[in-house]
Amino acid sequence: MARNVVISGGGTGIGLAAARAFASDGDRVLLLGRRAEVLEKAEVPGALTYAADLSDPGAVRGVARFVADELGTVDVLVNSAGGAGNLEPAAGSEDVLDAVAHTWTVNFRLNVLTATLLTEALRERLASPGGRVLFLSSIAAYRGSGSGAYAGSKAALHPYAFDLARELGPRGITVNVVAPGYVEDTGFFGDAMNPARRERLIAETSTGRAGTPGDIAETLHWLASHGAGHITAQVIQVNGGAERGH
Ligand SMILES: NC(=O)c1ccc[n+]([C@@H]2O[C@H](COP(=O)([O-])OP(=O)(O)OC[C@H]3O[C@@H](n4cnc5c(N)ncnc54)[C@H](OP(=O)(O)O)[C@@H]3O)[C@@H](O)[C@H]2O)c1
Repeated sequence: MARNVVISGGGTGIGLAAARAFASDGDRVLLLGRRAEVLEKAEVPGALTYAADLSDPGAVRGVARFVADELGTVDVLVNSAGGAGNLEPAAGSEDVLDAVAHTWTVNFRLNVLTATLLTEALRERLASPGGRVLFLSSIAAYRGSGSGAYAGSKAALHPYAFDLARELGPRGITVNVVAPGYVEDTGFFGDAMNPARRERLIAETSTGRAGTPGDIAETLHWLASHGAGHITAQVIQVNGGAERGH
């Protein structure tokens, strides 16, 4: 039976690949992101789109009303919206503490608020039983990310998911986290990737290649399947072995 699937960050990268995986099952997919033009250009058969900044409670209320009107029940919620903050507007100050406050605030808004606000807004609409909630963490949550702000914001999703799994388990809903390593062909790095950095990231893997959006989408799709119904409160790493290193 066709399911209703809500995907934040569904217009690009991992979210878009996940949207295509669910749509190919005949599921009804709703793509969320800030840029309406990106969502509208996404080639996902039959997809609905709604543009909103998911770090803003008022905008998320709008999403909740749209979901109530268009979908009613949410079978699968994929929280893929996020980023490392380097593509967001800069601090606008030379002061070190202003820059630290800006970096941590931006990362928590991008990665924590987008996921927690959307999940809380839709939790009463989750299919019971059978609902699935999925979050995107990162290898950075295990290894750091330079300033620590991106890594810390991704790590914050782990205990949130564990608590949510306990709360929603009695309703027959699972909650899991997928933590990718380096995934190319996404908007994540902007123009910050270069051949030397790419080579270094691939050299950390045991598989000898970069991750693809499809690798992550297939894992999300599997965790959303009926067969994965006894998997909950888990963090699944998809990184070609890079977190263990050589
Ligand atoms: N690519 C990697 O190597 C990698 C590795 C580990 C984890 N991840 C995680 O995987 C997830 C997907 O990233 P990706 O690699 O697919 O990169 P991406 O192509 O940049 O996707 C991120 C998406 O999030 C949306 N988004 C960002 N802030 C938002 C907000 N405030 N409200 C609504 N939507 C927002 C963006 O659209 P708008 O800008 O239009 O809003 C974009 O579509 C992210 O959580 C990322 O941290 C990625």
